[in-house]
Amino acid sequence: MAQALKKLTTQVLKPNNVDTIVGCTGLRASSTWWNNVQMGPPDVILGITEAYKKDTHPKKVNLGVGAYRDDEGKPFVLPSVRKAEEILHSRGLNHEYAPISGEATYTDAVAKLAFGEDSPVIKNKSNCTVQTLSGTGALRLGLEFITKHYAKAKEIWLPTPTWGNHPQICNTLNLPHKKYRYFDPKTNGFDLQGALEDISKIPEGSIILLHACAHNPTGVDPKPNDWEQLSKVIKERKLFPFFDMAYQGFATGDVDNDAFAVRLFVKEGHQVMLAQSFAKNMGLYGERAGALTFLCGDEATAAKVMSQVKIMVRVMYSNPPLYGARLVQEILTNAELKKQWLGDVKQMADRIITMRSQLRAGIEGAGNPHPWQHITDQIGMFCFTGLKPEQVERLTKEFHVYLTKDGRISVAGISSQNVNYIAEAIHKVTS
Ligand SMILES: Cc1ncc(COP(=O)(O)O)c(C=O)c1O
Repeated sequence: MAQALKKLTTQVLKPNNVDTIVGCTGLRASSTWWNNVQMGPPDVILGITEAYKKDTHPKKVNLGVGAYRDDEGKPFVLPSVRKAEEILHSRGLNHEYAPISGEATYTDAVAKLAFGEDSPVIKNKSNCTVQTLSGTGALRLGLEFITKHYAKAKEIWLPTPTWGNHPQICNTLNLPHKKYRYFDPKTNGFDLQGALEDISKIPEGSIILLHACAHNPTGVDPKPNDWEQLSKVIKERKLFPFFDMAYQGFATGDVDNDAFAVRLFVKEGHQVMLAQSFAKNMGLYGERAGALTFLCGDEATAAKVMSQVKIMVRVMYSNPPLYGARLVQEILTNAELKKQWLGDVKQMADRIITMRSQLRAGIEGAGNPHPWQHITDQIGMFCFTGLKPEQVERLTKEFHVYLTKDGRISVAGISSQNVNYIAEAIHKVTS
């Protein structure tokens, strides 16, 4: 350690590292202020996509990407979103700044979508809802708010496994994170007993992160009865639930069904925090439309929380982008368009459910000796196949099927054209 430090110091102080050019002060073209910067590891998912792009095999398949694809394997613009775009265009809107917390019509509409039109928390104005830079921005803002303003145990408990960005954001914020059991590799299902056991030992006042639906990366969701038990133990331990809802509508095809856990917790008296994203359920990935809600118990507290959130947003990005939020707002507040959107969401979810059935049928139909029921039991965009790293490697090397090492596949990458090929490939590497 001391030696490494000495080496670094001599390097930094080396006279020719940062030079003065004759007659003026500055940097030589070959020199840089950033000599000290180390090459960081590439993003795992983007790395897979890069490798996939380079592959010239005609049957190559990318099952790594976390975005919905239609049955032709193409990005999908929802018809309801297209309609909303036309409506916005016809209005000839200006590009003035949005309020720091987003337009109130937007935040009201998205809170109603999550908590329900008639939710008391909205009626009594005890929610503080702000527009965020999609789901990631909501998580980042919410967790940063916690590091600054949360008065109890500043440590967060994450399910094992969880979306890779959860621990990364915590690391960036120096927010300690720990794990509770969630996925059972023996059944490829939810480890209810493990989760309850671990949660019942979490220190009082800690924060617990919960995926509201369509858990990423496993596709495993607790059943309604499991959620009731989770709510009970979380209440007993006096934990603060932070829901991440990036896939409302994507799990079952019904936005109200998918909000079951959040609404149950609210009904049970939990004051939850909620991160929402419209990347997946409206296909607005690059538009960065999301929201963060704090349930605060009463209107006065909600106003105080809002004042502090605004201060945080102001110094971070000043105010949120308009376009995606305008699309979301139009869809959620125009009854006809909303009806169409609910149909679009169902269409996406149904295609995913159909692909799950066909994949399972294809593997089982090939006479594979292993159980594959988990493919259809799991829900949402992702499926944790249970494939081992060496099987994943064979899938990629021999069959040009790309996926993450943990065996997660994005079911959205499966289509009626490639499902049999993928099933056959999985059958071959597992039998
Ligand atoms: C569990 C989970 N949370 C949050 C997000 C945030 O996505 P975005 O920032 O694109 O809304 C994702 C996206 O993959 C996710 O899987």
